[in-house]
Amino acid sequence: MQSPTSSQQQDQEKKLAAATALHWVKDGMQVGLGSGSTAAYFISLLGEAMGAGQLRVQAVATSLVSEALARQAGIPLFEPRKGTRLDLTVDGADELDADLRLIKGGGGALLREKILATASRHVLILADSSKVVPQLGRFPLPLEVVPFALPWVLDTLEKLQANSVLRSDRQNPTEPARTDQGNVLVDCHFNQFPDPAQLARQLEAIPGVVEHGLFLGVAHTALVAQGEQVLVYKPGEAPRNIAEFTELP
Ligand code: A5P
Repeated sequence: MQSPTSSQQQDQEKKLAAATALHWVKDGMQVGLGSGSTAAYFISLLGEAMGAGQLRVQAVATSLVSEALARQAGIPLFEPRKGTRLDLTVDGADELDADLRLIKGGGGALLREKILATASRHVLILADSSKVVPQLGRFPLPLEVVPFALPWVLDTLEKLQANSVLRSDRQNPTEPARTDQGNVLVDCHFNQFPDPAQLARQLEAIPGVVEHGLFLGVAHTALVAQGEQVLVYKPGEAPRNIAEFTELP
């Protein structure tokens, strides 16, 4: 169990990362809006900045929840078309390592998150300091699975020693949680996976697994708030203080 103090600190750090990200949103951008509590802070701050006339952007959201938050915040949403490249997607993460490999999907929005991240020129990840790990795998790895395929997907996951658990709906725990696409979620409790790329390939080869929560080579930058300071992570580089940057890193 987390102590209230550490969860309050995490919340402060999420807000700080979100406020910092706002500096890199430029007038006229097409922005991807992430999902989860950190992304929610960003959406609300972006809405405030737009309401104050400081910025005009158009956005696409990675979940129905974030779409609703964006509407409430007064952020105009648009329908992507063939050829649409988003200027910037801002999202949270469940885990990240020094190479900016991520586990995402704790909130169940991994499929749309990966779609928008892949359709973006720049993917900016916001995180509190608890999300940084030396090696991915502590956080259960989520999979989005077509319900029809579930029995066979679970069989294959057993062979991979995934210790998989079908995620339950929070409100109605006897029912499985459903994604925005109507699929189910399976959380894999691998003890460790030293080779995330190999695991990603194995999961992608299972028919019925629509997406997995490993985001490898997807994020360009992460802003990790640690107490009062914000560190900038880039793949394969040592983290640097935000004060060293005046442009989107
Ligand atoms: C949603 O599906 C996830 O990928 C979120 O980005 C992730 O769970 C981070 O959530 P918090 O910002 O709430 O920690």
